[in-house]
Amino acid sequence: MSDIKITFTENGPIRVDGLTEAVGHDGTPIPLREGKPSFLCRCGQSSNKPFCDGSHRTAGFDGALASAE
Ligand code: FES
Repeated sequence: MSDIKITFTENGPIRVDGLTEAVGHDGTPIPLREGKPSFLCRCGQSSNKPFCDGSHRTAGFDGALASAE
């Protein structure tokens, strides 16, 4: 079993290191770049979902994380 690390980048995508498999809601495999991190869109503006295409930069996305309180 591999280790996965998730990093919430500042005002940008979710970086996932160690991801080896991803599927859509219907089980369809989503191709990943082997040996490279995946960057998942969390701003909702990407035209390449679920991956980031850089649109968060022009969308003014605020990725501040909510407090745990
Ligand atoms: S986080 Fe980059 S396009 Fe959405």
